[in-house]
Amino acid sequence: MTMLLDDLMARDAIADPHAACHRLRETEAFSAGRMAFLEREISAEDRRSYRHIFDVLSHWMVFIDPPDHTRLRRLLSTRFTPRAVEQYRPRVRSIVNALLRGLVPRRGFEVVHDFAYMVPLTVILELLGAPAGDRLEGAASLVEYLRPLIAERRESPTLDLISALVACEELDGMTEQEVIATCVLLVFGGHETTMNLIASGTRALARHPDQWMRLKADPSLAEPGVEELLRDDGSVKATVRQVWP
Ligand code: HEM
Repeated sequence: MTMLLDDLMARDAIADPHAACHRLRETEAFSAGRMAFLEREISAEDRRSYRHIFDVLSHWMVFIDPPDHTRLRRLLSTRFTPRAVEQYRPRVRSIVNALLRGLVPRRGFEVVHDFAYMVPLTVILELLGAPAGDRLEGAASLVEYLRPLIAERRESPTLDLISALVACEELDGMTEQEVIATCVLLVFGGHETTMNLIASGTRALARHPDQWMRLKADPSLAEPGVEELLRDDGSVKATVRQVWP
């Protein structure tokens, strides 16, 4: 570990950190996998009580290395190309408008609870093909919520994401556990991140009314504005990689 830190602090690594990071990624021991490590660190009793959580998290592509990461990422990526995502824009706009129409008549509302929580959850559940409107708490209840939906789509597929993932079971050898884990990853990965961005962005604009007035006067600033809010106070503060001894 010291050696790696020393490597990263070396003169040539500081001069060209991208090349240094590339060399680090190429080492066999460099890994995104942290579930096996976590499982090893906790007590046998905790391991038993959290078995159902580990069963899901150990199949999250974000926590696994190639070649499994490459395989899962390839299966999902066609649904998230810039072109595919652009097609969701009208639907996302109408979800946001419907939420705001319900909130405007109130004297005030709680941004996180009434808006930021609802937007990404509604969008992601709709993408997956799950009935909207439910508040979901925790991975375990989400798995129980998804299991019958997955079985239903296996019987009668539609155009939604769950059907696309279920089709990968037969075509690409994706396991049911991977389908469940990928759905849970999309709900968790897409929900909390976006909710926090809406919340921290709203707070930043409230604290900088001059910037809010600029954005209001020129809505074409929305796109760079979101990028800047993400840069200034992003919802993900760290990523984890480990190097096995
Ligand atoms: C503001 C919103 C978002 C932020 C800040 C964000 C941030 C990130 C970051 C930093 C990672 C890399 C984590 C790592 O490798 O350790 C990641 C991965 C991922 N995110 Fe997001 N995300 C956002 C929205 C979304 C949405 C809306 C979805 C899908 C509905 C999503 C799905 C994923 C998936 C599937 C991965 C794993 C990719 C892979 O391992 O190849 N994210 N996200």
